[in-house]
Amino acid sequence: MKKYRKERFDTANVRSLLEPGPVVLVSSAWEGRANIMTMGWHMMIGFKPALFGCYIDESNHSYDMVRRSRECVINLPTADLLEQVIGIGNCSGADTDKFALFGLTPEKAGEVAAPLIAECYASFECRLADAHPNPNHPLFVWEIVRAHVAKSRTPPKTLHYRGNGRFMISGREIDTRQQFPNQTK
Ligand SMILES: Cc1cc2nc3c(=O)[nH]c(=O)nc-3n(C[C@H](O)[C@H](O)[C@H](O)COP(=O)(O)O)c2cc1C
Repeated sequence: MKKYRKERFDTANVRSLLEPGPVVLVSSAWEGRANIMTMGWHMMIGFKPALFGCYIDESNHSYDMVRRSRECVINLPTADLLEQVIGIGNCSGADTDKFALFGLTPEKAGEVAAPLIAECYASFECRLADAHPNPNHPLFVWEIVRAHVAKSRTPPKTLHYRGNGRFMISGREIDTRQQFPNQTK
């Protein structure tokens, strides 16, 4: 096994290596208006029920929309939506209809008012389980109440954000199922 010679690294850039992925698009709805934001800071924190934790900064219009509606949809874009992912993450739903501007199609969800995004590989309908579990950080915990995934189960080419305008695209899948007798991991 290779050993790495390391050097001191700026802690502000650690995100470039520990950034979770994939980048998702969060759709929300409130008082008849829908919005979308790009999100890279999230993690799964339970699978039965399926719990999803994320960071939504207070400065985002989506913050108010999800706080008020207590619902959202987490949509999984593929690499061909890179331009939309960047654009949606660099403008505000306070003054922009992002579905119209970025040519995306809202679809009716089954359990929540927020729309699914038809162009995304998967969409997960969420209800708020816990807002601000820590008062110092704008964290949200969502329960995924309904999941929609593309019929073609080819592993999607997802986008993973490394900060400062750099993305990675997910690569080769390695199947090691025989080494996982306990299927829950
Ligand atoms: C690749 C990428 C990842 C982002 N990740 C997050 C995130 O995890 N949390 C967050 O609060 N904002 C994140 N943003 C910023 C929001 O998407 C951005 O502020 C957006 O304009 C918010 O839209 P809104 O004001 O309509 O809600 C990200 C932006 C980009 C481009």
